[in-house]
Amino acid sequence: MTTLLHIEASAQRAERSLTRLLGREFFATWQHLRPHDRVLRRDLAVDPVEPIDAEWIAAAFTPPDARTPAMVDRLRGSDAIVDAVSAADVIVMGVPMYNYGIPGALKCWIDQSARIGRTFSFDLARGDVPIEPILSGKTLVVLSACGEFGFEPGGMRAAMNALDPQLAACAHYWGVTRERIHTVRIEYQEFKDARFAASVEAGKAAAVALAERLARAASASMSRAA
Ligand SMILES: Cc1cc2nc3c(=O)[nH]c(=O)nc-3n(C[C@H](O)[C@H](O)[C@H](O)COP(=O)(O)O)c2cc1C
Repeated sequence: MTTLLHIEASAQRAERSLTRLLGREFFATWQHLRPHDRVLRRDLAVDPVEPIDAEWIAAAFTPPDARTPAMVDRLRGSDAIVDAVSAADVIVMGVPMYNYGIPGALKCWIDQSARIGRTFSFDLARGDVPIEPILSGKTLVVLSACGEFGFEPGGMRAAMNALDPQLAACAHYWGVTRERIHTVRIEYQEFKDARFAASVEAGKAAAVALAERLARAASASMSRAA
């Protein structure tokens, strides 16, 4: 059985959100091919993650056996996030572009997902690269949407794209290497023209094709292991 973790970061309701539309296409395809897989969901619009603060940082950087009951309590939400990431084989994120980056709601989730001793270790004996991921072997699917266009490498707004680099930089906390990040993006939403209509159709088709490819790969690796 494969476990998928679906994080929705759009502040929009389902009927208006393009990233939620891509998520529906992806999961309908996956569940058609592999109906018995487990899907964990967190919709940050209805179940938000709070920003980290001084108490949270103190709790996270205190060794587990030295934490006070209040510290243990403070980390419960983060523990649940890390448990879900640890359990997942495939992490699917619906990520609208807001002000050229990820939504703040997702940044809060990311900040609570990066935990010393659980998702990364830190050791200065490793010299200039003291952070090492603890998790491994996972796949990240980014289902994105933006109002403008040209954020891809070489595109006219490539230098303004703070969304993809942020996710790529943090992916190691979730056990994802860069080669295992797959991104589907709908563009031109603000233009409402034929380019937008074509981008919606292309995005839906890409989400379906990606789900088919990854679901088939999951089935193939199960039959190799059997
Ligand atoms: C608060 C806000 C900020 C946005 N900032 C950008 C932006 O910087 N660049 C861009 O191309 N589109 C931007 N957009 C457009 C969204 O990326 C676009 O509407 C997208 O479809 C949102 O995803 P959703 O439909 O799943 O909610 C912004 C939209 C909102 C609501």
